[in-house]
Amino acid sequence: MDKAPGTPPLVIALDGPAASGKGTLARLISEHYGFAHLDTGTLYRGVAWLVLNEGGDPADPEIAAAAARDYAIDKIAGADIRTKEVGAAASVVAANTEVRAALLDFQRRFAMKPPKGARGAVLDGRDIGTVVCPDATVKFFVTASPEVRARRRWLELEASRPDLKESEIYQDLLERDARDAARDDAPMAAAPDAELLDTTHLSIDAAFAAARRVIDGVFRRCG
Ligand code: CDP
Repeated sequence: MDKAPGTPPLVIALDGPAASGKGTLARLISEHYGFAHLDTGTLYRGVAWLVLNEGGDPADPEIAAAAARDYAIDKIAGADIRTKEVGAAASVVAANTEVRAALLDFQRRFAMKPPKGARGAVLDGRDIGTVVCPDATVKFFVTASPEVRARRRWLELEASRPDLKESEIYQDLLERDARDAARDDAPMAAAPDAELLDTTHLSIDAAFAAARRVIDGVFRRCG
C-alpha cells in the first residue's frame, strides 16, 4: 500500500512482554496491510550482542552507550541475536537511558517515514505506544500467561539449543519482564489507549483475526 503525498503514515504499535506473540502478529499485520515492520527488540539485542562480542559487560553504562551510538545493522549481519543470553543482556542495556536515547530517533524516523514509501509502519517492542509513538493510529498490548510464553519460546529455541529446559526459559522470561517493567526510563507498560490482547488461549490465526478487527474498525473511523 503506497502513501499518497502529504498523508501522515498510519502507525500500529504493539507492546508486551517477552514471547507474548507480538512479533509474529506484527509481521502478519505488516504483510496484510503492506506496511513496513520494525522489530525494535532487534536494536537492543544488536547493541547487547556488540557488547558481548567484544567481551564487555552489558551493565557497564559507558560500554553499552558507546555500542548504541555506534550501532548499525551491518555490524550485526549474520549474528545470532535471538539467543536467551543475548535477550537477557538486551534487557540490561535497555535500562540504560543513553542507550534508549541513541536508538529513539531511528525508531521515530522509521514510523514517520516508513521505508519504500509504505503507507504505514508496524513497530513492536515495550515502549512504542507510550514513548516512541504516543500518537500511533492503533495500539496493542499483547500478553499471554508466563507458562504459555515459556512454552512458545522453548519450542522456538529447541532446535538450536536442545540443552535448554523449559523451566530455565520460564525463569529467564520472568526476570526479563521484571527488569523491563521496573526500569525508570520507558518501562514496559500498556498505553492507556492500548487494546489489550491476551493470546494465552488464541491460535496465531485467531489472534491475527482479533487484531485485524480492531485495526479495520479504527481505519474505518479514520476514513
Ligand atoms: O522477542 P522477545 O519478546 O523475547 O524480546 P525482544 O522484543 O527481542 O526484546 C529484547 C529486550 O529488548 C527486551 O527484554 C527489552 O529489555 C528490550 N526492549 C526495550 O527495552 N524496548 C523495546 N522497544 C524493545 C525491546
